[in-house]
Amino acid sequence: MTAAPAAAPGAAVHVGELRRMRDAGERIACLTCYDASFALIEDRAGVDLVLIGDSLGMVIHGRGTTTAVTVADIVYHSRIVAPYLKRAFLVADLPFLSFATRERALDASQRVMQEGGAKMVKLEGGREQADIVEYLSVRGVPVCAHLGLQPQLIHKMGAFRVQGREDAAAEAMLHDARVLEDAGADLLLVECIPAPLAQRITEQAHVPVIGIGAGPQVSGQILVLHDILNISPTVTLGRKPRFVKNYMEGSPDIETAIRRYVQDVKSGGYPAPEHCF
Ligand code: KIV
Repeated sequence: MTAAPAAAPGAAVHVGELRRMRDAGERIACLTCYDASFALIEDRAGVDLVLIGDSLGMVIHGRGTTTAVTVADIVYHSRIVAPYLKRAFLVADLPFLSFATRERALDASQRVMQEGGAKMVKLEGGREQADIVEYLSVRGVPVCAHLGLQPQLIHKMGAFRVQGREDAAAEAMLHDARVLEDAGADLLLVECIPAPLAQRITEQAHVPVIGIGAGPQVSGQILVLHDILNISPTVTLGRKPRFVKNYMEGSPDIETAIRRYVQDVKSGGYPAPEHCF
């Protein structure tokens, strides 16, 4: 089988291109975004995938968790960002409980894609979401399944903690990843898990695996924009997560900071051992 050709420079990134990058060993640089000014800069700086994350509840609305974010919030920010992305692929989060049933998941996906302009939805959960992933996928909705730390479960967990440290939990996550991919997930995202586990999930997967706090042996990295600019409430209040790197340090302006992040992801310079679990 011949390898898929690379997209023309500047051409819009699509699911097939993300898969080609994974197969070719080209790391995928992803970043969250919530408004037009940053969308323009991120796109120009070479970010491959832009996420309208429900982290907007924390970094834009200033709440302590993501659980109050609504589908209307995601649609609002997506439709602001979408027109400014000429190249980057736009993914939008399905917020807390918006995918609790098949019908709600389909309705939320329809809204973020048709009204918001997103090209893929992301939802948190393990094998218990396989039914929803399959329901969306067979109806033409590209899905990113978010495993590991699931911030929407904060009120069940009590605190944000590294996931999959124990052998049984690691095996369960590997199984979840396989089940979600079989259900039709086009992308996997793993958050706050030990680097060796993320590597095993990536080696097992046939789709790109994007990591956040998951070490270097994945297909790409994602971070929250306000974290790399060192302005998120968590950073300002002195609770910087281990995997966050401040790209404003040593950068004369925001665009340079974002370009440096993209270059570091592409070259494997980020994450360094001190950012990993
Ligand atoms: O909401 C978000 O920004 C996310 C990323 C942290 C992956 O889910």
